[in-house]
Amino acid sequence: MSLRILRGTIVSAPALGELDALEDGFLVAEDGVIQGVYETLPPQYAAAEVEDWSGHLILQSFSDMHLHAPQYPMLGMGLDMPLMDWLVAYPFPLEAKYTDTDFARRVYSKLAKDLVERGTTRVCIFSSLHRESTLVLMEELEKAGIIGYAGKVNMDRSMVDYLSETTEESKRETLQWLEDSKRFTNIRPMITPRFTPSCTDELMYFLGDLVKKYDLPVQSHLSENDAEIETVLALCPDCEHYWESYAKRGLWTDRTLMAHCVWSNEQERRAMKDHGVTVVHCGDSNWDLCSGTAPVRDMLNEGVKVCLGSDCAGGDNIDMFHSVVAAIRASKVRHLMDNKQTAFLTVAEAWYLAVSAPNEFFGEKPGFAPGNRLGAMILADDEELAPYPLDAKKRLERAVYRRQKNCIRAVYSGEKKIFAAE
Ligand code: GUN
Ligand code: FE
Repeated sequence: MSLRILRGTIVSAPALGELDALEDGFLVAEDGVIQGVYETLPPQYAAAEVEDWSGHLILQSFSDMHLHAPQYPMLGMGLDMPLMDWLVAYPFPLEAKYTDTDFARRVYSKLAKDLVERGTTRVCIFSSLHRESTLVLMEELEKAGIIGYAGKVNMDRSMVDYLSETTEESKRETLQWLEDSKRFTNIRPMITPRFTPSCTDELMYFLGDLVKKYDLPVQSHLSENDAEIETVLALCPDCEHYWESYAKRGLWTDRTLMAHCVWSNEQERRAMKDHGVTVVHCGDSNWDLCSGTAPVRDMLNEGVKVCLGSDCAGGDNIDMFHSVVAAIRASKVRHLMDNKQTAFLTVAEAWYLAVSAPNEFFGEKPGFAPGNRLGAMILADDEELAPYPLDAKKRLERAVYRRQKNCIRAVYSGEKKIFAAE
């Protein structure tokens, strides 16, 4: 049995808007599974080794629930363009390069390392349409100690000829990829139709059948941008609303993630709530590409599940501290544009969306709940520079807004310490 005991100031998010803080506590995990958070170390652990992080914050690590791995080299590029033009000008030419698995290896090993260093231990991530490179991505993530889901992208109705697959190829490669993915334990496959404009109905129905047959999770994009929505409605005469283009084809389940949902109206939000679909809010990306500002408070009030994503590279970075701040600021924009009628997100609420809300998608409870897989990071937060002695919650608030360089000192995922600062 492997035992991990971390001592320090432990802050976790047990419910939306709530933080649990223990000034000098012990977080205990056995075989990578959390046993509990304790004020005093239970006697059965008395003789065990303790990693002493006194003076540091022990926080839940991040789950980045939406990002595009192949776009990592083009972070921050082309963001003066709207979504549909940007896709053709930037992501598509870059994604076409992933026929080259050596290139994929170089990018994905760096991405995995950089995610870990930023405290991200769980992902739901898009690859490109290439099966071999998708396997490279899964390998590199798993090697780095990251867990979650990755998807070979399906796109048989491409907007460019150099990055496309026929319907038959897409089906065949997806089946082969599902077979090949069996060798991974911590990164599992997720069905990933890029978005309705890039997939034919025939392919969507095929993917929906796979979801049902193998009980697979789904990730895609929804209601991100006005031109995108118009395209979908023109392509799908059987659908009155964008969401139906997924729902009618079997891709709308309680294991479905939909990124963005900037323009989701009440009806679309109700469809998400009724079917347990999870929204992935990507505030940075929505501003970068001028997509809009998503109605996250309405979603939360209506009982829709919401998590956060960096959306690298519509978003300009992979640091989830930024995604948390973007979510807060996006909600403040809505608050301001709405005559202050809609409450903005507090730090505790946005933090919950980044570290605890995703747990449900992975079959776990919020916070450092016993039974959860250990996902934790150690934060040094320059306490000597604080204006006066700060309690643990204030320290977290300050750390979120400051996004201080090199503040993460160590990261744990399951049984492993996957990052240790020099
Ligand atoms: N919609 C379809 N593909 C993409 C993508 O790569 N990035 C973003 N932001 N939206 C998309
Ligand atoms: Fe995206």
